[in-house]
Amino acid sequence: MSTDLNRVKDTFIAAALEAGKILKEHFRSEKVEAKTKSSSADLVTNVDLKTQEAVIRILSRDLPGVQIIGEEKENEEASDEVIYLDPLDGTLNFYHGQRQFAVSIGYWVNRSPVAGVVFNPVDDDLFFAICGQGAFRNGRPIRVSPYRLLSQSVLATGWPYDKKELPRVLKSLECLLPVTQEVRVWGTAALALGYLAAGALEGYWEWGLYPWDIAAGVVIAREAGCRITSIDGGPFELSSGAVLATNGHVHEEMLGYLKEREA
Ligand code: IPD
Ligand code: CA
Ligand code: CA
Repeated sequence: MSTDLNRVKDTFIAAALEAGKILKEHFRSEKVEAKTKSSSADLVTNVDLKTQEAVIRILSRDLPGVQIIGEEKENEEASDEVIYLDPLDGTLNFYHGQRQFAVSIGYWVNRSPVAGVVFNPVDDDLFFAICGQGAFRNGRPIRVSPYRLLSQSVLATGWPYDKKELPRVLKSLECLLPVTQEVRVWGTAALALGYLAAGALEGYWEWGLYPWDIAAGVVIAREAGCRITSIDGGPFELSSGAVLATNGHVHEEMLGYLKEREA
């Protein structure tokens, strides 16, 4: 069961551009109102909701019958053909007037990544990929970086909203930060995967994620040549909420340090 991929591509790009228009229009405006969700850092704004509504309108018009799982809506369990939508990945950045945020739309069939778009409208930065057709940034092909050693690498991770989850992140940083050039925390999983795909960083790991955070980024990263596993090196599962994605070259070295964290 699968929809025509040219149709998916056109629809995803149209939906991402429409979302970007709404996000950009409200960025740093006084019309942004936020409520907290699971913690004081986990926000939803009126702009998340407005963007989600606009994207769902386009997706359900142009890809009728495909299930949509959206961060800010009531969802049923994922079926075999599903679109994961995060209307605003990086809400905290958006709310604080920081430019790193994106809309993220990923298409999965039979639990495998098929297509994804991640769009940051402030930088006009659009990442797109279809399985087997390569990954693109603003229409140009992208590839992972060639660096082979952690000492030549910039990595990225994310902070958990649930502060009880902080110790394992801090422990992993304690192992990885001393042996890399530096570690970034951008506050948007979707864009971190886009940057990794484009060769702007060498590795990214994070726990505490939801499928809509990374469903699109994983397609883009894979198509750009990334290796993607669970954080202990096993097969990657979208529903696990955790990911280790690298340019491939530094994967084993990262796994070694991440295992050290458990010792
Ligand atoms: C969050 C961002 C952040 C990650 C969190 C996500 P949101 O998404 O991707 O980078 O660390 O785990 O929940 O809440 O801004 O859509
Ligand atoms: Ca998100
Ligand atoms: Ca979000």
